[in-house]
Amino acid sequence: LVAAERDAAAAAAAAAGGGGGAGSMASDVAKLAELKGAWPNNIAVQTFDLAYFKSLQAGEQAGLLKCLQSGIQNPDSSMGCYANQPSDYDRFKPFFSRALARYHGVGEGARHESDWSLPAGVSYDVSSLGLGALSMRTRVGRNLADFPLPASMSRAERVALEAKMSAAFDVLISMPEYGGAYHSITPGHPSCISEAEYGRLVGEHVMFKDMSADPYLVSAGIAADWPYGRGVYVSGDGGFIIWVGEEDHLRIMCMARSTRVESVFNRLKVALDVVNGIPGLRFAFSPDYGNVTSCPTNLGTGMRSSVHIALPSLTRDGTDARAKAVCRPLGLSVRGLGGEHTPIGPDGTVDISPSARFCIKERDIIAKLFEGLSRLVAAERGAADTADIAATAIEAAMRGHLGRKKVDAIQAAQLAAQSAGATAGADAAAAAAGAGGAEAVATAGA
Ligand code: ARG
Repeated sequence: LVAAERDAAAAAAAAAGGGGGAGSMASDVAKLAELKGAWPNNIAVQTFDLAYFKSLQAGEQAGLLKCLQSGIQNPDSSMGCYANQPSDYDRFKPFFSRALARYHGVGEGARHESDWSLPAGVSYDVSSLGLGALSMRTRVGRNLADFPLPASMSRAERVALEAKMSAAFDVLISMPEYGGAYHSITPGHPSCISEAEYGRLVGEHVMFKDMSADPYLVSAGIAADWPYGRGVYVSGDGGFIIWVGEEDHLRIMCMARSTRVESVFNRLKVALDVVNGIPGLRFAFSPDYGNVTSCPTNLGTGMRSSVHIALPSLTRDGTDARAKAVCRPLGLSVRGLGGEHTPIGPDGTVDISPSARFCIKERDIIAKLFEGLSRLVAAERGAADTADIAATAIEAAMRGHLGRKKVDAIQAAQLAAQSAGATAGADAAAAAAGAGGAEAVATAGA
């Protein structure tokens, strides 16, 4: 079948050859056929259908292939495509409806509906789980209806979009409950900040990193023209932020240290309505798919709602593997503290968020986050108990091997190291016990 598809693709490629730009179209189609057998997890590659492609006019064919560039050039992609125009999801529905169904686990005819209203009287208070205030953030991706999406913008369009948003930010800045300032990194922009200031804002996770480091965004064309048209609005209290010119035209977010998961969510809803109400701003929206985002993984709500939580027991091995195994069935994604594809914090702090974005209501994302968090906290406590049991077993095994005096010496050394704040307790213990002790521990722990 794969060979047959490759032949068909080669035929299509030959048929397409000859016109301006058609050479690259032909090689994309051939490449897609080649990748299909080798990259089963690349959704765009797997969803691309030659018969559908051939049914399109040449201009539409080029438009569809443009959406797949990132997945073609990065075969390890999991999604492998980005929309280039606000209308692309509807325009290329036979492709996107199947890609969306695969990624989000919904039916091909699924329609998205929005609902932010939390049930009356509900409170997602993490102190009821025995936790203190956590760092929380809820963001939504939004795009303006009257510009191409970031994958297909010219430099002039990126700058024009930023100018339009700068005027909108002046409205926010004049409102006492927002205030703050806009910080641009566009050369020559009246609010342009220095390199050092930009670095400081990135370090504080207020501003986004240079996108040219992300190969998916580069191949898609989303990272192009850096740093033109890029910047961040920050409210006076620092809790409300709008990124301009990242993966979506706008990433609108609220953050706070709080015990109440619904606090940033509710603030975001109010702020979003204010932004949407500024004359001249109209968000791209699809009647079937909801809020339009560059990446199909974000379509619908465009929302990621996260908390930072320390999971020292589940991450005892220094990786997030166990935390991920616990979180996956709870519908939660685990990320590092610097965002997607970043490492976990040194104390085992991770970023947790519901994975679902599409065909889920905003209110249900927040409910899922709280529900998942309560189960995760239970799993973390269970892992801590298991660790105690393991330590007891190790101790018993050591006593068998080493005799009472040596085990007491090891434990005294461990206690001393812990109370001195040292992290090298194990080394001290091994030194006290000698080589035999280390061996006994390793055997018992295996
Ligand atoms: N394009 C990449 C892939 O397909 C990332 C997708 C999800 N991440 C994102 N930032 N949209 O694997």
